Amino acid sequence: MTSSKRKTIAIDGPAAAGKSTVGQRLARSLDYLYFDTGVMYRAVTWAALARHVPVADEEAVTELAQTLPIEVSPPTVDDGRQYTVMADGVDVTWLIRTPQVDANVSTVSAYPGVREAMVRQQRRVAADGAVVMVGRDIGTVVLPDADLKFYVDASVEERARRRWREMLARGEEADYEIVLDSMRRRDEIDSHREVSPLRVAEDAFVLDTTDLGIDAVLAQAQCLAEEADC
Ligand code: DC
Repeated sequence: MTSSKRKTIAIDGPAAAGKSTVGQRLARSLDYLYFDTGVMYRAVTWAALARHVPVADEEAVTELAQTLPIEVSPPTVDDGRQYTVMADGVDVTWLIRTPQVDANVSTVSAYPGVREAMVRQQRRVAADGAVVMVGRDIGTVVLPDADLKFYVDASVEERARRRWREMLARGEEADYEIVLDSMRRRDEIDSHREVSPLRVAEDAFVLDTTDLGIDAVLAQAQCLAEEADC
């Protein structure tokens, strides 16, 4: 493998561990596509809520996932977004970040049929390489042959603190204990579901961001991506 090869880079890890920041900055530095697969599960969840499809109805949600057009493109509006997400022709970039979507996305993403439909699209996106794909099962299921795999982690308390600060910064009301509790619950569902649970791929490099600044973590990731002497 030469360093000029258009690599596929997989980044997995729990919520708020720093995957997106590391992924976005790594993709920018390599001039690769950044693709956050979480937005797809969020878009399906948003569509189910918007169309009043009961989230508990696995068959109906699966059918929705199989037919819902989801498009992720570079930002179309200059409002701080990193990309634009369209679902069903609606710009859902911010709508997929609401507490209602947060509360239901783990249920939706645990359905095997939903995952199958999303994974198929994700593999198509990664087919040409030059991509940094971020999620929960990228190195283990979606791209098991990825050229480089990272598992970005941090303690649950630190991750909850980050989410809580982000909410306060957006002017939302937020209680740290509630955020921590919801983060624990989501970790539990994501790591214990039957299909594609969150776990560290055997050949992944683990990057712990609990005490390490993002620049230091990124430097490690870049070094490994460039196959330098790290
Ligand atoms: O990364 P995120 O918080 O936007 O992910 C939203 C949800 O989607 C989360 O509950 C885990 C799930 N997800 C998944 O199951 N597989 C992925 N590849 C990405 C996200």
